Amino acid sequence: MNNTFKIAILPGDGIGPEVMKQAIKVLNKVTKYFKENIIINTFKVGGTAINTYNEPLPKITLQGCEESNAILFGSVGGPEWEYLPLQKKPETGSLLKLRKHFNLFANLRPSYIYKDLYSLSPLKEEILINGFNIICVRELTGGIYFGQPKGKINNTKNVYAFDTEIYYIYEIERIAKIAFNIALTRQKKICLIDKANVLYTSVLWREVLQKISQQYPTVKLTYMYIDNAVMQLMKNPAQFDVILCSNLFGDIISDQCAMISGSIGNLPSASLNNNNFGLYEPAGGSAPDIAGKNIANPIAQILSLSMLIEYSLKNTYVSQNINNAIIKTLVQGYRTPDLVCHTKQEKIVTTEDMGNIITDNII
Ligand code: NAD
Ligand code: IPM
Ligand code: MN
Repeated sequence: MNNTFKIAILPGDGIGPEVMKQAIKVLNKVTKYFKENIIINTFKVGGTAINTYNEPLPKITLQGCEESNAILFGSVGGPEWEYLPLQKKPETGSLLKLRKHFNLFANLRPSYIYKDLYSLSPLKEEILINGFNIICVRELTGGIYFGQPKGKINNTKNVYAFDTEIYYIYEIERIAKIAFNIALTRQKKICLIDKANVLYTSVLWREVLQKISQQYPTVKLTYMYIDNAVMQLMKNPAQFDVILCSNLFGDIISDQCAMISGSIGNLPSASLNNNNFGLYEPAGGSAPDIAGKNIANPIAQILSLSMLIEYSLKNTYVSQNINNAIIKTLVQGYRTPDLVCHTKQEKIVTTEDMGNIITDNII
């Protein structure tokens, strides 16, 4: 009998459900290739869950995720829930909770530019021609996002708020090993991006990285301050291969990488723990400005599914098949509005159309 492989589908808010629908079409098309019996269950999360259950991560959703082998996540948040206190907001109350609950400390955000989208990038072609293919390895369950104490003090005389940036050696070691192992499969270069001229945590990151690098003599390790790094990414992105960052710096720099590649709507991510469990989601958000209009780009969601298939199902034949279908669709000139380059014959399509065409292009 075939093994079953359960996927918890959490579409979330804003464009989440629109782009998730396209990823599910793709999944249905490729199930024939799996030896596993794929079972999908959909659960509410984020603002949508608040509206139904009065909480962003209801028990039924968490339990559904626990009983699954992987999570495919859309995006959460939006103006409707912005007034809520931080802990009850969709972002902190569901996404960050899931990351912590499943110990998803390793966030992988690969970005590269498709040749057909060169003119969409804010960078000049003569810069891009040297190559843009970066994987941002972001620590995801530590640092200033989760460090205690944090809070707001409402003294009558003095109101203040504080967050704590804290890293334990084991947290740095485990994410560093992931980054080194990824580097071995690529150009064998890691750049640690930090603020070691100011922050104690960054100094510790450098010490730990220096030590671990001795186990990986073929990988070239460099360091760069975050302020210089955002500049160097604009000037010469080809110098980077694997970028390793703390939680906050990785959040920021991965959106910059997304824009260099043409659109945040193209950037997927995988958040992994040490037991082969993963949550897969677009790096971008719920895009309230375009939600409900059937114009969102579904590529990041579909690529997130592809990463799920690569990392959790370990089926690179199928993930490659999906990636190729996306390339073929772009070469054919199909574009959601965020991908319009105005350079050649392009056909502007809806989210639904884009999902259908990519699905049709899967062999
Ligand atoms: P955003 O990524 O949602 O949107 C930024 C810009 O990118 C917008 O102009 C949007 O239209 C565009 N965009 C994003 N995804 C797109 C897509 N697939 N196709 C076309 N255009 C796309 O970031 P924001 O506006 O800062 O945040 C909106 C909400 O999303 C906030 O509540 C935020 O906290 C939340 N958010 C959630 C996640 C997540 O769930 N993983 C990630 C980031 C932001
Ligand atoms: C991301 C998002 C999240 C983060 C938010 C929504 C909590 O911006 O996944 O990049 O900051 O990690
Ligand atoms: Mn982000």
